[in-house]
Amino acid sequence: MMRQVVQSFDAWRAAARELIARRVPPESVEWASSEADGDLFSAAGGGPSAALPAIAPAGPELRLPRELMEMLASAACFSAADRWAFLYKVIWRWHLGERDVMSAADRDGARLYGMVKAVHREEHDMHAYVRFRERKEEDGAPRFVAWFEPTHEVLPQVARHFARRMGGTTWMIATPTATVLWDGEHLHDAPALMRSAADIDDAGEALWLTYYRSIFNPARLNADLLRSHIPSRFWKNLPEGAIVPSMVSAAANGERRTGQTMTVGQRRGATTIDITPERAQPQREQPDSLDQCRRCDLWRNATQAVSGVGPKKARIMLVGEQPGDQEDLQGLPFVGPAGAVLDRALAEAGVERGAVYLTNAVKHFKWELRGKRRLHKTPAQREVSACHVWLEQELAKVKPDVVVALGATALKSVLQDSGATMSAVMDAPFQHEGRWVIAVYHPSFVLRARDEDSRRQAYEVIVAGLREALRLLGD
Ligand code: URA
Repeated sequence: MMRQVVQSFDAWRAAARELIARRVPPESVEWASSEADGDLFSAAGGGPSAALPAIAPAGPELRLPRELMEMLASAACFSAADRWAFLYKVIWRWHLGERDVMSAADRDGARLYGMVKAVHREEHDMHAYVRFRERKEEDGAPRFVAWFEPTHEVLPQVARHFARRMGGTTWMIATPTATVLWDGEHLHDAPALMRSAADIDDAGEALWLTYYRSIFNPARLNADLLRSHIPSRFWKNLPEGAIVPSMVSAAANGERRTGQTMTVGQRRGATTIDITPERAQPQREQPDSLDQCRRCDLWRNATQAVSGVGPKKARIMLVGEQPGDQEDLQGLPFVGPAGAVLDRALAEAGVERGAVYLTNAVKHFKWELRGKRRLHKTPAQREVSACHVWLEQELAKVKPDVVVALGATALKSVLQDSGATMSAVMDAPFQHEGRWVIAVYHPSFVLRARDEDSRRQAYEVIVAGLREALRLLGD
């Protein structure tokens, strides 16, 4: 096995050209982004040409169409541990004459397109949601500073965009891993300088928040529209984002009605409303950590919020619907009867439970009392939407390569599409926002199936989906 350490697209390209010229197949190369990645002792490290053994005499020169080169350059910004290896596999296949690799119908082609799309979307989001905050221009510090947490490595191209747009003004964009400074004439790369948006000293922000609050009308709030325009992972770093979630849930929990009551109450006419809107709809606290989440009403009857569990960088994430009775009591996902089915399916598929991240679309147990038992009730779409912010945070942190949606509620939440149906997508994995999604039945569907045959079939779909997840990682 040959080890290649590359830290940029140009370095990867130089290394890949040389490897192709020497006909080194993808399975003989281990790619890493730093010396510390992977197994340090596997082989000689170094740059592109470090200790390349002459495996075979040089072959024909690698020729790639411009369109493919552009796709590779974009996909190289996609945050995935295996990105360099994957890109090498793509050009290897192209070099062998497999033109399908550029087709979205091909498995690698589909992944490549998905990565490019996710990177372009991240660039677009960063153009739209980076907020520069003005600081006092003292001791040569940049006048404008912005903090952003991109999912993919798009800072260099985004910095070029702002350099073109902002002329001679000095600015800096900081992210958790890197910083770019514009001195009015040139861009400068620097390592990470800030840890969060809180490091920016910003006197003008209060004004902006006041303005945003004043244009926000809870009675007319369309939270879905707002969410689809501003993905919730950006809210926390937008000046207005700090107040958007609380305004959305405040609207859902009473302000909308309060606002309407106020308007109706102020109308002249025969009707008399002798209660103040505040008394009719008392305000609630709007906390924003999961254990205090009040974005919908499910918290009222649940013992606790159940967050996801699993390795911080798990490559597979399983998303269920909502905690059940046992999960609600223990505070852990999939520890009840559905969890037992899932455990069996995981074992049969050869997937270690401890290696995957397990979570739910909705974090509070929704139930109704039947006799002495708390029976599961399917969450409403508005509850799934209210809870999506937590799943989005988990996806952004864990960055799984494959998401397995267990059942229709999970699928709708993962795709952010309330019309998504299992039957349309259950037969094959597909790309969504740069990662694989596999839809399978929910384990409790197996428990509820009417006869042994349907139980077995549903269970086998789950096992096959989990096997497929493993196989995609192998790719
Ligand atoms: N069903 C789910 O969807 N999730 C759990 O955690 C338990 C049962």
